[in-house]
Amino acid sequence: AEAMLADGPLAGRKIVVTSGPTHEPIDPVRYIANRSSGAQGTAIARALVALGAEVVFVTGPADVAPPEGVVLKRVETANDMRKAVMEALPADAAIFAAAVADWRVSNAADSKMKKTKTGLPALEFAENPDILADVSKDKARPALVVGFAAETDDVIENATAKRKRKGCDWIVANDVSPKTGIMGGSENAVTIIDENGADNWPRMGKDQVARKLAERISEALQGKQK
Ligand code: CTP
Ligand code: CA
Repeated sequence: AEAMLADGPLAGRKIVVTSGPTHEPIDPVRYIANRSSGAQGTAIARALVALGAEVVFVTGPADVAPPEGVVLKRVETANDMRKAVMEALPADAAIFAAAVADWRVSNAADSKMKKTKTGLPALEFAENPDILADVSKDKARPALVVGFAAETDDVIENATAKRKRKGCDWIVANDVSPKTGIMGGSENAVTIIDENGADNWPRMGKDQVARKLAERISEALQGKQK
């Protein structure tokens, strides 16, 4: 385990990190979700703690255990995640690594749907709130807001447009098309997109991506008021 630096470069900084998938219920035993192990978000939170930050870790039901030393907020749905994030503000930075479900089932059943009774269910959907976009335009907007963009096509173009649309400072973009083998693996190849352009990082372990990102966040917050 990495040592916690009481006086590291991020000491006195509060950082909100979202991680993992959200689960949107269909009925009490079924849900829809995005694929997400939570590995990258967890590694980022751990790296921020190691630099001395106070981390509020808002996580959906992930495969990996949450890191030590965080303020842990476990959530299930996108609406729960939004609420937990808003309650955590104000903060110096917010990092949105979660794979939030874009839609929830608006006609979710209170009791288990039975295949013998129901036949094929007709699911209806409602759009979930966009937590990153909402925080980016909030009165209590953190000085640094970082979003992610997991894309399968036209990665840089899509991620650059996403940065504008969401109103965040940086987008951490990656190619998750099956040929890369990144989805569910221990490595990641990311491009950091900010107002100055695109910074391509070579493929490396998710832990190393996390440490590099935590360093970059630390540098960006230097000189910003606490
Ligand atoms: N995000 C969020 N709330 C949502 C959807 C996404 O906070 N309801 C955040 C993610 O955590 C990520 C960023 O927004 O940091 C981009 O998510 P992504 O799914 O790539 O963007 P979308 O705008 O949902 O676009 P699409 O899925 O259509 O590509
Ligand atoms: Ca999405």
